[in-house]
Amino acid sequence: MDLFEYQARGLFEKHGVPVLPAAIATTPDEAEVAAKNIGGKVVVKAQVKTGGRGKAGGVKLAVDAVDAREKAGAILGMDIKGHIVRTVMIAAAAPIESEYYLAILLDRSNRTFLVMASVSGGMDIEEVARTAPEKLAKIPVSAVDGISAAKAKEIVSAAKFPFDVADQVAEVLLKLWEVFQSEDATLVEVNPLVKTKDGKVIALDGKITLDDNAEFRQSEHAALVDHEATNELEAAAKAKDLNYVKLEGQVGIIGNGAGLVMSTLDVVADAGKKYGGVLPANFLDIGGGASAQIMADGLSIILGDSDVKSVFVNVFGGITSCDAVATGIVQALELLGHKATKPIVVRLDGNNVLEGRAILAKAGHPLIEQVDTMDGAADRAAELAAL
Ligand SMILES: Nc1ncnc2c1ncn2[C@@H]1O[C@H](COP(=O)(O)OP(=O)(O)OP(=O)(O)O)[C@@H](O)[C@H]1O
Ligand SMILES: [Mg+2]
Repeated sequence: MDLFEYQARGLFEKHGVPVLPAAIATTPDEAEVAAKNIGGKVVVKAQVKTGGRGKAGGVKLAVDAVDAREKAGAILGMDIKGHIVRTVMIAAAAPIESEYYLAILLDRSNRTFLVMASVSGGMDIEEVARTAPEKLAKIPVSAVDGISAAKAKEIVSAAKFPFDVADQVAEVLLKLWEVFQSEDATLVEVNPLVKTKDGKVIALDGKITLDDNAEFRQSEHAALVDHEATNELEAAAKAKDLNYVKLEGQVGIIGNGAGLVMSTLDVVADAGKKYGGVLPANFLDIGGGASAQIMADGLSIILGDSDVKSVFVNVFGGITSCDAVATGIVQALELLGHKATKPIVVRLDGNNVLEGRAILAKAGHPLIEQVDTMDGAADRAAELAAL
């Protein structure tokens, strides 16, 4: 999960990374009050989960509270790379002398953590990385050792931070490592980290990505979820522990195993070309133990999607054999009762396939149609969606 800047700032503050006073606002009135409370010059910053806000006009200096109100009025509602600004952050304006760059991230390809640091930070860091890569120091950090005081010093000297800020930057690095580790982040980025005219080092911007796999031990992170941006069906699926992703099409998909579901999406999209461009409506992997309850949960999410016109259940019996899955489908339809309203094409194959098909045939549910091949079933599901 990516965080908004103000949320990242909150985690920085919690772990002692130096930040400036700030508050969020969703209306110009609130922005004026926030600016008055902070006092003096402030910056008004669009809170959207994308980079390059400054260049898009989403970061503006305001000389006083009335000006902040005006600037907030201009920024709220702005579209930045497809993200509509609903919230602004009002932060004290820093007298900037230099802008630096610091980031800690998970480096998947090298199976390690990585620190990136540069004394040429600010809004052109991407350009610096591209045209003058030697100005961006990259130092691997082992998961076992992490960032110690000695490691922080090594990073600071590798990136050639000036002597007068070296100790402060090293201190910030230690705190950022604490954020990275204790909050289970995969990215913590500060751009810019600044040196102010009076020689202080402060984080003026923050970007954090939290590792969703660590959700189970980070109960406080639930409060950081942006519910407005979360799709309702996806939220309902998540509440039932289902791996569901909403897509744009009309054929609801249920399969067991991520690989099978991925290829099902491809096969349906291909079959759909014949029927005016019918596409899969979702990704849903019900996993290995496809019980009646899981099947019912999955079906009810998919049937609750008003875009869905037909459903394709594609199951390959492995550890959970086809007869168990078939029984699950029959029971799921009983559980759903009149809520089951759309045609369901079922393709079973693998372990105990004949028993499974027999169970569905015997149940004779009016919504269920069996097709024995994956291509054939995809074609029929697409055809039904186009009717
Ligand atoms: N509190 C502040 N006081 C003074 N100047 C600021 C402040 N916050 C930001 N700025 C200036 O605005 C610029 C852009 O701000 P910021 O980095 O927060 O947004 P951004 O454009 O989204 O950056 P990125 O592309 O890295 O996400 C900074 O490089 C800095 O020069
Ligand atoms: Mg920035």
